[in-house]
Amino acid sequence: AAGDSDKPLRLLIAAPRGFCAGVDRAIEIVDRALARYGAPVYVRHEIVHNRFVVDSLKAKGAIFVEELDEVPDGVPVVFSAHGVPKSVPADAESRGLDYLDATCPLVSKVHRQAERQLEAGRHILFIGHKGHPEVVGTFGQVPEGAMTLVETEADVAKLTFGPDQELAYLSQTTLSVDDTAQIIAALVARYPQIVAPKADDICYATSNRQAAVKAIAGECELLLVIGAPNSSNSLRLVEVAERMGTPARLVQRGSEIDPAWLDGIETLGLTAGASAPEVLVREVVDALAAIRPLTEEVVRTAQERITFKLPRQLQD
Ligand code: F3S
Repeated sequence: AAGDSDKPLRLLIAAPRGFCAGVDRAIEIVDRALARYGAPVYVRHEIVHNRFVVDSLKAKGAIFVEELDEVPDGVPVVFSAHGVPKSVPADAESRGLDYLDATCPLVSKVHRQAERQLEAGRHILFIGHKGHPEVVGTFGQVPEGAMTLVETEADVAKLTFGPDQELAYLSQTTLSVDDTAQIIAALVARYPQIVAPKADDICYATSNRQAAVKAIAGECELLLVIGAPNSSNSLRLVEVAERMGTPARLVQRGSEIDPAWLDGIETLGLTAGASAPEVLVREVVDALAAIRPLTEEVVRTAQERITFKLPRQLQD
């Protein structure tokens, strides 16, 4: 497409995009823990699913491990934003470890609802993606067998509970808003007695980022999503665009941009998942601008003002 390359690329940048309040807080917790206790500070699991963030904290003295038994005695450990099963803080306490919990307060809210539904004698149907650390953490709030995972509408059809079974449903915070609505509709159709959460478990950041993609995807021939392959909310942004018929790609760094992607593209969309810092957005914009002149337009669909308090041990 030789002719196209003379034309400036029209870049539509979605807003809101990138860091949510839970990710901001989780990173701040590691930063402050390093400042207060000195390096090393251990972090159980990637604090947020972004390699750039993890590498930046490693450079400051954070050490990332997958399990608590990799943490030596006598050093502080931070739990990631995704949340942990109850056994993890319990094990930390029994070892006398100082721990800081960076679980997003919106994930903790789902954890508390799980406990409440259990106390009310209801079996919980949990909508989420198998194996994601948030799902592992939420299942770990209740005894084994108290919660059943539902990943798809087809899973709803396979459930074997009777019409008299007391049920409630909850969900992961970073799901597709549209898919989840369909799964919930299937659950309610099959089990009219099922108890819904007080408010949507999908968080404000997830739904705002999906709505922002919907606002631009129709005008773009390609959408780039800055995010990691293990970032649930970033993968959902790719899907939202694809469902609208717009091809979309996940990218982690500006260096991954292939000039061939821009062949024949007049309007390109750009967004970032909740764990991707704004510096990576600038890096990608610079990489695109090095391939072809471009014009930038920010398309904002919501304002976000939410912030979360730090754990008490780290407040000034
Ligand atoms: Fe929390 Fe939602 Fe971010 S659950 S960590 S605000 S993506």
